[in-house]
Amino acid sequence: MIKQNIEEEINNQIQEEFQSAYAYLAMSAWFEEKNLGGFASWLKAQWQEEIEHAMKFYNHLIQRDGRPILQDIEKPKGQFDSPRKAFESALEQEQHITKRIHKLYKLAREEDDYPLESLLLWFIDEQVEEEEMVQDIIDKLKLVGEDGSGLYLLDREMGERQGQNENEAEQGDDQK
Ligand SMILES: [Fe+2]
Ligand SMILES: [Fe+2]
Repeated sequence: MIKQNIEEEINNQIQEEFQSAYAYLAMSAWFEEKNLGGFASWLKAQWQEEIEHAMKFYNHLIQRDGRPILQDIEKPKGQFDSPRKAFESALEQEQHITKRIHKLYKLAREEDDYPLESLLLWFIDEQVEEEEMVQDIIDKLKLVGEDGSGLYLLDREMGERQGQNENEAEQGDDQK
């Protein structure tokens, strides 16, 4: 059985992860409109990852006889002044999620909830990767600046992620 206050916080985290997914999808749509399909597909892959994060928490509740209660998702930001601004807002969002994960970890420790602690260790590592990845894209966008051909090349590079994800998904299916 899972403690009620922990169940509530996990439900809040499910909302946060779906909210992140929604924000990435809105960003993806903005990049589509700008004809930057590589960025758009990268962000769509990110959208899927956030849904997987939400489902990890969802499944954790189910496994422990908890009850997932889905909450409202707010309208995400859909307009950005530049690609760099869009990724800066993604970084802010990831930093916010990192803080929440750390808070949840602290609660798990205080409540001696070892299964949740174990799950959260994965998320703690994941957040380090996510922040690094988004920061890296911001750095590249800074380098490119107003240079259209640089942005074009970066868009192509970003588009390569989708292929990687598909391969990973296929490998994942083989293991089942
Ligand atoms: Fe996430
Ligand atoms: Fe994330």
